[in-house]
Amino acid sequence: MIKNKILVIVGTRPNFIKIAPLFSELKKYPKIKPILVHTGQHYDFEMSQIFFQDFKIPKPNYNLRVGSNSHGIQTAKIMIKLEPVILKEKPNIVIVVGDVNSTLAGALVASKLNIPVAHIEAGMRSYDKRMPEEINRVLTDHISDILLVTSYFDKRNLLKEGIDSKKIFIVGNIMTDSLLNIKDKVSEKVLKKFKIGTKKYGLLTVHRAENTNNKDRLKKILEAVLEISKITPIIFPIHPRTKKMIENFKINYLLKESPRLIVTRPISYIDNISLVKNAKFVLTDSGGLQHETTILGIPCLTMRENTEWQITIQNGTNLLVGISKNKIIKEALGITNMRKKIKKIKYWDGKTAQRIIKILNSKINAK
Ligand code: UD1
Repeated sequence: MIKNKILVIVGTRPNFIKIAPLFSELKKYPKIKPILVHTGQHYDFEMSQIFFQDFKIPKPNYNLRVGSNSHGIQTAKIMIKLEPVILKEKPNIVIVVGDVNSTLAGALVASKLNIPVAHIEAGMRSYDKRMPEEINRVLTDHISDILLVTSYFDKRNLLKEGIDSKKIFIVGNIMTDSLLNIKDKVSEKVLKKFKIGTKKYGLLTVHRAENTNNKDRLKKILEAVLEISKITPIIFPIHPRTKKMIENFKINYLLKESPRLIVTRPISYIDNISLVKNAKFVLTDSGGLQHETTILGIPCLTMRENTEWQITIQNGTNLLVGISKNKIIKEALGITNMRKKIKKIKYWDGKTAQRIIKILNSKINAK
């Protein structure tokens, strides 16, 4: 049997969560052979392998092991190592996901080799070019052939930029598939590890370059968190970038100032979702947590001035608080345990992977 090939490129923690449902769905298509390429952008056990284990994602066919570096070097290294792989495999379609350096590098290599590129989570815009992710999003979308968007918001963004509507498909949010798959399996077990009760704590994550690469911003965030922790304890699974920057700026004393600021290593997906589900609120600059909190109905305070997840503000539980210390403290302490009413978002129903593979399969067969 001649098999068609779909080559999937991943590199970072959120990418792994996003492709897991695709690989389950691909099992229903014996005529499609998936090839998985891990760029190695993330490489620590807790940032990479643990997700392959937990989601039972097959071992990557290729690991490019590019590791960390400046944006230019990292993107270039991925491109150099990826080109021979794509030339050898000759896939029918290449899939890239999200907005990380691995996404842009993958799309560039494939499109220059005239291989159709499908971009999952296309059309998201924060309209803030200071964010490396925004540059990755815009460039990837304009060289992709199949733009798979999470909602009508994203489709509208692409249409405004002159992208042909025939290339755009509203498929929903792939992370919802992963979340709905495990939603009922999460428990309060992880809370025991932190000796804390349900709805008695806030969950903190910070890793964006704009917040971690600036001493002033990072310090303000930590000072606000310490203030909040006097009333509500905070659990803080720390991203390796953030840990490194806190050490470089010599502000690690702030992490030790209060036993009610509980700092821990990066945690697994299931533990993270358990912590989100049982939290009083989430304080974050992550993209994933903005929509995971919306789906779970947990208040989310986003420490950014803008967001590409506008829909979570309009329909969900998300609120932009920037990094004003007073605003963060005021909003966090003002949160009650009342659940905010959320509007259901069309296609965020756990069937996004099904829609994506159906579209890609029809594209392959139409050739
Ligand atoms: C990247 C993405 C970001 C995404 C995030 C998810 C880009 C531009 N940024 O940010 O959009 O939200 O992943 O986590 O692609 N490090 C380790 N171990 C690892 C990985 C990273 O120690 O396994 C440290 C290194 O010091 C590295 C730093 O974290 O320099 C930053 O890693 P990098 O992949 O460049 O960016 P992230 O901040 O993880």
